[in-house]
Amino acid sequence: MDYVTLGRTGLKVSVAGLGCGGFSRLGLGTGHIEAEAVSVVHAALDLGVNLIDTAAAYGTEAVVGRAIAGRDRDSVVIATKASAARGGEHTPPALVIESLDNSLRLLGVDCIDIFQFHGVPPSGYAHVRDVIVPALMREREKGKFRFLGITETAPNDLEHEMLARAVPDELWDVVMVAFHMMAQNARWAVFPLTRAHNVGTLLMFAVRSIFARPAQLAATMQELAQAGKVPDWLAGSDDPLAFLVHPGGASSLTDAAYRFARHEPGVDVVLFGTGDRAHLQANVESILKPPLPQADRARLAELFGQLVGVGLDLPPRRGAVRA
Ligand SMILES: NC(=O)c1ccc[n+]([C@@H]2O[C@H](COP(=O)([O-])OP(=O)(O)OC[C@H]3O[C@@H](n4cnc5c(N)ncnc54)[C@H](OP(=O)(O)O)[C@@H]3O)[C@@H](O)[C@H]2O)c1
Repeated sequence: MDYVTLGRTGLKVSVAGLGCGGFSRLGLGTGHIEAEAVSVVHAALDLGVNLIDTAAAYGTEAVVGRAIAGRDRDSVVIATKASAARGGEHTPPALVIESLDNSLRLLGVDCIDIFQFHGVPPSGYAHVRDVIVPALMREREKGKFRFLGITETAPNDLEHEMLARAVPDELWDVVMVAFHMMAQNARWAVFPLTRAHNVGTLLMFAVRSIFARPAQLAATMQELAQAGKVPDWLAGSDDPLAFLVHPGGASSLTDAAYRFARHEPGVDVVLFGTGDRAHLQANVESILKPPLPQADRARLAELFGQLVGVGLDLPPRRGAVRA
């Protein structure tokens, strides 16, 4: 495993981070039982993954708690999240603190390493910053969490407006941002800011559905071509990104997607979500491989660098927040 310093937190974290949400939710979202989900976390830890990202809304905190029970607490960096809005209303600080306490209980830890606000839209940011954070800082003084993070709601904030406002506030130690081969605008909108302010970055949506489901990629390409947003030749193929897979290049589409994300300047940790141990192994291997060849990266920038809002789908709603 390779490790990096997560911005101003100083934490040494693995470049591959296990995401416990998304469509898989460690496999709970795709029909697996809890014991199998625990074994996915164990397999990740055994490969040297030391950053685990979960959330109150995912229903996977207890799985993570079971998986890390008995392990050296310092060997794993736990990130979780609370919602800052419920039913379209701002969440009062007391409910966020209740969520924090519940996360501590489910995870079975005394202190959460990174406590994040989940999927905050631009319209909700001022409430989080001005109303919730001051109350939450008193909980930090009690030792309930170490670092503060915020995650964007990618499908509802296509230009990364919330993070562009939040990062310069010097309040956030870590941010979570969406970026992938066909959604590259964080390169201009977010990473220059996080680098300037030494804010750690967790990357989401590297693969999601668009690069995991070939039919979805082909259909998306057809829509984009019809709208004149990508060249027509991309619409005429069942495997439009096949040009990335070649000797010396990527070994598969997901390999290309994780490597593309990992080597973007400004990205600290690439989160990957899976309930499948073979995928887990493959994804860690991909994230540890060298960058894609320069010619392939240049082609991805030329073909898709101008796209906004592609491939940012949400799984079915479970609780207050989807992710
Ligand atoms: N706003 C937010 O806070 C927010 C939003 C989105 C995501 N996140 C975080 O980011 C994490 C990562 O996002 P994500 O879950 O969308 O992860 P992802 O790694 O981009 O995509 C995961 C999807 O791809 C599939 N997959 C993974 N590896 C594969 C492989 N080698 N071959 C084929 N299919 C593969 C998974 O299914 P299998 O189970 O079959 O592998 C799953 O459906 C989440 O778990 C969550 O922690 C946060």
